[in-house]
Amino acid sequence: MTAPLRASEPIVVKVALGERSYDIVIGRGILASLGRRIAALRPAARVAIVSDETVGRLWLAATREALGDIDAAVPVIVPAGEHSKSFPVFERVCEALIDARIERGDLVVALGGGVIGDLAGFAAAVVRRGLDYVQVPTTLLAQVDSSVGGKTAIDSRYGKNLVGAFHQPVLVVADTALLDTLPAREFRAGYAEVAKYGLIGDAAFFAWLEANWREVFAGGPAREHAIAVSCRSKALTVSRDERETGERALLNLGHTFGHAFEAAAGFSHRLLHGEAISLGMVCAFALSAKRGLASAAEVERVRRHLAATGLPTHLSEVAGGLPDADRLLELIAQDKKVKRGKLTFILARGIGNAFIASDVDAGEVRSFLIEKLAERC
Ligand SMILES: NC(=O)c1ccc[n+]([C@@H]2O[C@H](COP(=O)([O-])OP(=O)(O)OC[C@H]3O[C@@H](n4cnc5c(N)ncnc54)[C@H](O)[C@@H]3O)[C@@H](O)[C@H]2O)c1
Ligand SMILES: [Zn+2]
Repeated sequence: MTAPLRASEPIVVKVALGERSYDIVIGRGILASLGRRIAALRPAARVAIVSDETVGRLWLAATREALGDIDAAVPVIVPAGEHSKSFPVFERVCEALIDARIERGDLVVALGGGVIGDLAGFAAAVVRRGLDYVQVPTTLLAQVDSSVGGKTAIDSRYGKNLVGAFHQPVLVVADTALLDTLPAREFRAGYAEVAKYGLIGDAAFFAWLEANWREVFAGGPAREHAIAVSCRSKALTVSRDERETGERALLNLGHTFGHAFEAAAGFSHRLLHGEAISLGMVCAFALSAKRGLASAAEVERVRRHLAATGLPTHLSEVAGGLPDADRLLELIAQDKKVKRGKLTFILARGIGNAFIASDVDAGEVRSFLIEKLAERC
């Protein structure tokens, strides 16, 4: 997974949101430019880094060094993992920022994966009624998805991401070299979201991924390209529909099924989010084919590509198994509003042509799941 460090021109993707617009800077080795970029944006700002223990061990020293002369508070380090998106850890982060005298005009730097981005971003949204923050995403999922778009949240006992705010960062610095230390399984899980952008609206990108995914994994220039295309796609969707009243929902391709599988597996290492999304996207295409919207050949093409990268594509691959169709349907209905027995799914009229279908009958999903659960790989 490692590749030699080399200096390359970073790619800049703009998120156009009027006065809340910001740049996503993507490149190998660009962490070193963090201090310069922050100083250019907020010349007198103090900075507080929020990170987790794992990322802290690997990348905190380099990040502090990259801040150069900037006045930095004692870093706030929380345990790694989803459990940190909780009220007690959130309280600790808020109090630490206040204790460090981070004021309006100062900056919070979220150094980590989606957990840190969501947690630190939400703390930044509410401490002193709103601090600016910079995302330094360290997982593939965070570089292509969670660091872009301003959704921040922690989890409630009733479910994930139920307490949060829309709060856009002022800058995203995505150094692709930081992904070299990411466990292969985490990288692969993040890749499911990369493939998702092709499947939603960019058939040419999906075809490019089929040809180039190995280089994306290996860390060649294809990695930067794949991340940039993904960010451009998300940035465009977010700029058109920041608060998800319409088309931003397309980004949930594979997520209605996927969330149910994740919940069934107890949000555990049995099934990572991206792995659940891989299964969910195959299901979304298979359900589309059942409705005569996509061809069987296209479903197989989607499945074959995801499987080639090592992602699960059959429900039988979930370690420990999944519950029956009724229970899965219950989980889907819990996650989504059900209107007169109808569910909303993101379906596709072929690769690169996803749409919001609000008329999916619960019975139709149930019989579909029964079929899928019976399949063996
Ligand atoms: N805000 C959004 O729009 C949005 C979108 C998608 C997902 N999310 C959220 O993102 C979270 C998942 O994010 P994630 O998959 O990045 O998980 P994560 O932040 O838990 O990171 C996964 C694991 O990898 C470790 N890690 C991170 N960077 C590393 C690196 N460079 N080297 C080695 N180890 C590293 C972490 O310590 C952690 O153990 C979920 O809570 C999800 O709800 C948010
Ligand atoms: Zn996702």
